[in-house]
Amino acid sequence: MTDKMITTEHLTKQFGNLKAIDSISIEIKKGEIFGFLGPNGAGKTTTINILTGQMKATDGIAKILGIDVNKHPVKVRENIGIVPEQENPPSFLTPVEYLEFISKIRHLKENKKDIDFWFDFLEFNEHKNTLCKDLSRGTKQKLMIAQAFIHNPQLVFIDEPLINLDPMIQKKIKTYIINYAKKGNSIFISTHVLEIAQELCDKICIINRGKIIACDSLKNLTKESKGNLETAFISLVEKNK
Ligand SMILES: Nc1ncnc2c1ncn2[C@@H]1O[C@H](COP(=O)(O)OP(=O)(O)OP(=O)(O)O)[C@@H](O)[C@H]1O
Ligand SMILES: [Mg+2]
Repeated sequence: MTDKMITTEHLTKQFGNLKAIDSISIEIKKGEIFGFLGPNGAGKTTTINILTGQMKATDGIAKILGIDVNKHPVKVRENIGIVPEQENPPSFLTPVEYLEFISKIRHLKENKKDIDFWFDFLEFNEHKNTLCKDLSRGTKQKLMIAQAFIHNPQLVFIDEPLINLDPMIQKKIKTYIINYAKKGNSIFISTHVLEIAQELCDKICIINRGKIIACDSLKNLTKESKGNLETAFISLVEKNK
């Protein structure tokens, strides 16, 4: 059994004349919290869409949990969790119905306990039977986090995880993510909130204009900036303009 949860080789996505991602080769290991950072439009969401089987690459290979995602996107999606960048939960379902639906298609047997856990943990019990269209932005975000983790996948992709959430819930989720990775699971996080990346990530890759401009442990990446990720990030992006 390989300890590589994600490997990509020369992954490329072209939209017309634009190379949104350009020959990306990355590796994420079991138990790692991987931070994927970069300016607006750098190619983060495009990369996540390809790695999660929602979009085909133009070129290159991506293996997720050892599975070629280009050939078997459904199999990959069954075995991962995704917190998408923008999507809302279905407007016509309640949170309970949505989590029951996700549990069912992810083959979770005893789902009631897991569903109750997420309402308690993220503190939105009072909204479990509200139609999703009437939830606040933050409550929708809580639900999207719950649906990504509910089936205990070995690998979870999170595109901007904690925006809209209050500081208490943010703290809880950060602790949850750290403990989840300690159990041998891996997390792929894309965020603009560098404090979150600094707090959580073992390894960080920075993408700019579709190209990886740095990829290292948090410690090595911030060596020259005395441990400050924001300084390191800005300096690397400026250098590679
Ligand atoms: N479906 C599409 N068709 C055409 N161009 C696209 C499409 N999706 C993304 N792009 C372009 O690809 C580039 C990368 O976009 P992407 O959404 O991956 O950036 P990002 O790093 O996630 O940015 P942000 O930080 O703003 O979320 C951008 O120039 C974007 O306009
Ligand atoms: Mg994005």
